[in-house]
Amino acid sequence: MSKKVIIGNWKMNPFTSKEAEKLFSGVAENISDIKKTEVVICPPFIYLEKLKKLSKKIILGAQDAFSGDVGAFTGEVSAGMLYSVGARYVILGHSERRALGENNSDINKKIKSALDAGLRPILCVGESVRDENHGYFNLVKAQLEECLAGVSKTIISKVIIAYEPVWAISTTPDRKDATSDDCREMAIFIKKILSDKFSAEAGKIRIIYGGSVNEKDAGDFLKNGGVDGLLPGRASLDAKKFTEIVKICEALEK
Ligand code: 13P
Repeated sequence: MSKKVIIGNWKMNPFTSKEAEKLFSGVAENISDIKKTEVVICPPFIYLEKLKKLSKKIILGAQDAFSGDVGAFTGEVSAGMLYSVGARYVILGHSERRALGENNSDINKKIKSALDAGLRPILCVGESVRDENHGYFNLVKAQLEECLAGVSKTIISKVIIAYEPVWAISTTPDRKDATSDDCREMAIFIKKILSDKFSAEAGKIRIIYGGSVNEKDAGDFLKNGGVDGLLPGRASLDAKKFTEIVKICEALEK
């Protein structure tokens, strides 16, 4: 089985390249003895190349990638370009991008082109609200099926699924805390959908949790949430908190 993974999504932070280097180095200095946990940081595109030079241990990821290699797509950045500056992962289908108009079909194209370019997609799925009739399970099922349509069994193990209930994300107005029980229930459901689609290969797909996870509840989600890692946003902007989450993961019985 693959290592557990802690992925920091910096979103559109920090404001300057100097701050980015300081934050990144602050993490790098404190994780030199980490062996069992994969540590990934996803900064804004423009910091990737510089940060790449600061640590061999931290794996870099991007927060989006366009489908296609090169061409007349003003403002876009391709997966191949990101690979060439050192990214090895890419977050795709984050709810903040879906809110800007990205749909499952767009995400599906991006996943395929990321895989072609050698990037490992971190596919984000999750509902905005939990309705009483449990319709949110169907929504997550559709996100998985449509975003992963046509992805072959032979390469599916490269994909990570991040369950991010939008109602729990730190910037959602009137947000609520998700519990490790909420997480485990959804992780089991996601495993079932993946196993129906990819048979035995589904067992190699890591499922992680994001949604306001921090150094205080990381242990609970990792021990009781049925997941193989975490995707903190806000907590990843504090080197001490992020490192603490990594160390909690490292200390788990495997
Ligand atoms: P927060 O940890 O700030 O809630 O963000 C979660 C997230 O969106 C990670 O991708």
